[in-house]
Amino acid sequence: MSEKYLYIETYGCQMNDYDSERIKNVIGIPETKDPSKADIIIINTCAIRAKADQKALSSLGKFKNLKKNNPNLIVGMTGCVAQLYGKKLLSNAPHLDFVLGPRSIPKLPEIINNIEIEKTRIVETSYDVEEPFEIMPYHDKGKVTSFLSIQQGCNKTCTYCIVPTVRGKEINRPADDILLEANYLIQKGVKEITLIGQTVNSWKSNGLKFSDLLNLVGELESLERIRFTTSYPRDCTKKLIKAMKTNPKVCSHIHLPVQSGSNNILSKMNRTYTSQWYLDVVNRLKDEIADMAVSSDIIVGFPGETEKDFEQTLKLIEEVEFDTCFSFKYSPRPGTPAAVMENFIDSDIAGKRLSILQEFQRKITYKKNEERAGKIEEVLVEGISKNDPENLMGRTSQNRIVNFAAKNNLVGRLVNVKINNGFQNSLLGTII
Ligand code: SAH
Ligand code: F3S
Repeated sequence: MSEKYLYIETYGCQMNDYDSERIKNVIGIPETKDPSKADIIIINTCAIRAKADQKALSSLGKFKNLKKNNPNLIVGMTGCVAQLYGKKLLSNAPHLDFVLGPRSIPKLPEIINNIEIEKTRIVETSYDVEEPFEIMPYHDKGKVTSFLSIQQGCNKTCTYCIVPTVRGKEINRPADDILLEANYLIQKGVKEITLIGQTVNSWKSNGLKFSDLLNLVGELESLERIRFTTSYPRDCTKKLIKAMKTNPKVCSHIHLPVQSGSNNILSKMNRTYTSQWYLDVVNRLKDEIADMAVSSDIIVGFPGETEKDFEQTLKLIEEVEFDTCFSFKYSPRPGTPAAVMENFIDSDIAGKRLSILQEFQRKITYKKNEERAGKIEEVLVEGISKNDPENLMGRTSQNRIVNFAAKNNLVGRLVNVKINNGFQNSLLGTII
């Protein structure tokens, strides 16, 4: 029998990237980049905004003809769109063989086996999986950085967000299990681990808090750096800030989504903090940790957002001076409280606000990058630069990309680079 191949398409956040690696590992057949050569096709989807949904559905459509020509081909949809629409997807797409929610990845081999033997179509979207973290990702050799999931789901109740619906309640992975995967990564040559979870700093397990976990991971030899994402502002405790400050492996960067600068909107979003409270946390972080970088997410055009609310968001951006910020137009999600709120904002108005905000932030990012010129930065070398094969690329502790010329192979090493120029998305320097 000839060898079988898996083709997988991934949309959305880091958690989906991580889950796709778990899918590759659990299916255990080689990957192909050409869907026409595949025996199994999987689309790992994102449902965070309406556009993401549409992408998932249109990518599914692409494989209709392949299935017609090869009835043995197995086509599956995984991820958040799969969880959200469940069996409706099967009736809308006759060429789809299975629909599998994010919690159920460990059940994949059994599902594929059943489809092969019984030619059935399967929907698996239950939340109660006995060992939700059982399957580790397929970790390629030679990677310098890696994600490591420490948490699934989310216990917060932000009124715009579909994540708690599609990924379920928060479950935290036990520390031993996390350390096991961390050690495995280190053996494979990984130097930087990014701990991931929807509200990663809310992690707790067997009496341990997230700050304790940072210290446990920090003790692992041969690991140079630790990052974590995404942090929830209310769970940014003094203990966490202390752990970040005292643990030399923890990078000086936090992704801390604020969502809005208006207390009125924050309250409608059920974010459980005020803009002043957020500013206080950021100031504490910046006071305690030298050269602290803060990035954020912001939603514009949330129901009821006035010009004044929007101006307060701009004011907050000006005060914090985020290093980078991802911003989005509000998108109503089925079943969420915000989707039935009054005073919807016209899409054109939201679009205009989004461009104003993005232009405002673009200048701040540029200014902050320019300010690095003349400084010496410690850079973890990740590989060859994208723009110039003669250059190497790495990141600073603050998560800025640095390109620099270097002859010898320094991939995986920490080096000092003198910064010559700061651009919009990266820095250019000389190794010293
Ligand atoms: N805790 C998560 C947040 C997931 S969503 C994490 O790990 O990043 C990422 C960002 O998408 C959110 O911070 C928010 O800014 C944005 N977002 C979420 N729901 C949205 C919606 N309905 N419309 C527009 N943007 C949304
Ligand atoms: Fe979504 Fe809020 Fe959780 S943005 S992922 S419900 S913290």
